[in-house]
Amino acid sequence: MWSTTQSLFSFFSVLCTLVQAKPHANPQWHHRHSRGVAASPTSSTTTTTTSTSPTPSTPQSSGTTSDSSSPNIGILYDSTSDLSAFSGQVGFSVDWSPIPLSSSDNLDLGTFYPQLWTFQDSNHLNPWTNAAPSWPSGINLIGFNEPDMPGQSWMTPSTAISGWNYIAQYQSSKDAKISTPGVSNSVVSLGTIDGVANPAGQEWMSQFLSLAASNSPKYTFQAISMHWYGSSSLTVDENGAMLNEQAGAMIQLAEDNGIPEVWITEMGSGYDTSTATEDCQFIQWLEGTFMKNASNSMITHYAYNEHLGTLLNGDAMTSSGSALLGGSGSC
Ligand SMILES: *[C@@H]1O[C@H](CO)[C@@H](O)[C@H](O)[C@H]1NC(C)=O
Repeated sequence: MWSTTQSLFSFFSVLCTLVQAKPHANPQWHHRHSRGVAASPTSSTTTTTTSTSPTPSTPQSSGTTSDSSSPNIGILYDSTSDLSAFSGQVGFSVDWSPIPLSSSDNLDLGTFYPQLWTFQDSNHLNPWTNAAPSWPSGINLIGFNEPDMPGQSWMTPSTAISGWNYIAQYQSSKDAKISTPGVSNSVVSLGTIDGVANPAGQEWMSQFLSLAASNSPKYTFQAISMHWYGSSSLTVDENGAMLNEQAGAMIQLAEDNGIPEVWITEMGSGYDTSTATEDCQFIQWLEGTFMKNASNSMITHYAYNEHLGTLLNGDAMTSSGSALLGGSGSC
């Protein structure tokens, strides 16, 4: 199941990587309502038993503000969906890029959190550098995308540190809140770089944070960014246990390193439209149990992956989408 999912996600990644975000003429960075600033969540997958987690990573996104919803619920979106059903319903949005995508035009998708997918190619770095002057003070910024996954930003913790100032510089110039790179929930190394195994998510993050602390200058973070994806071959309870495990590990790393928050900047249940009931049940558990669990209070933001297709049916909200937004309907 991992291999299938993984391939799918790799495909998404490539696809997404190729998608160029289109600059917004007039990005809406402001909060229209004083719900507070949303941070960006991330997600990735961990298997209790096996290895890897899929990570879709892609494009770029947009932001606006939301009316009614919790400021901590967000969506990760791409350029092709009709997202109007989410307008005014989410606190923040992410799109794998430094700028909002055209699918957010004229919509209120909450505050946009720019992401620098990688610093190692100009197709990602240049839009980031170009977008920065328009960012408001206090913006939330998301680090590299799944550096523990081949096909994603795939780099060692040491390499990530070598390019971290492309993000960290905005802590002083923009008073930005910075999240770490968003690691996947793979539990095994997915390959080698220069002959050395690049560590899996939790270990990758641990090494990155150690290097950040000993770097000169020392790098600090507002949040650990994590990704999480479940598996359609697991039950809702099993996926929940897997998320508990990965989130617990990330929360522990945050506590150990004096980082106040954890953002799930990308996540999905692993179910799809053929298992829509399970997807809805998982999201109900996410909202009703996981996010209410006092053990998870450091998780201040989480973005569900709309690109996976379970939240919307055409332009209409599905039961999964309604559950994400706190609806009390049945699955
Ligand atoms: C709350 O989270 C902790 C830590 O992950 C977990 O052990 C516990 O089972 C969770 N409680 C519920 C009701 O899921």
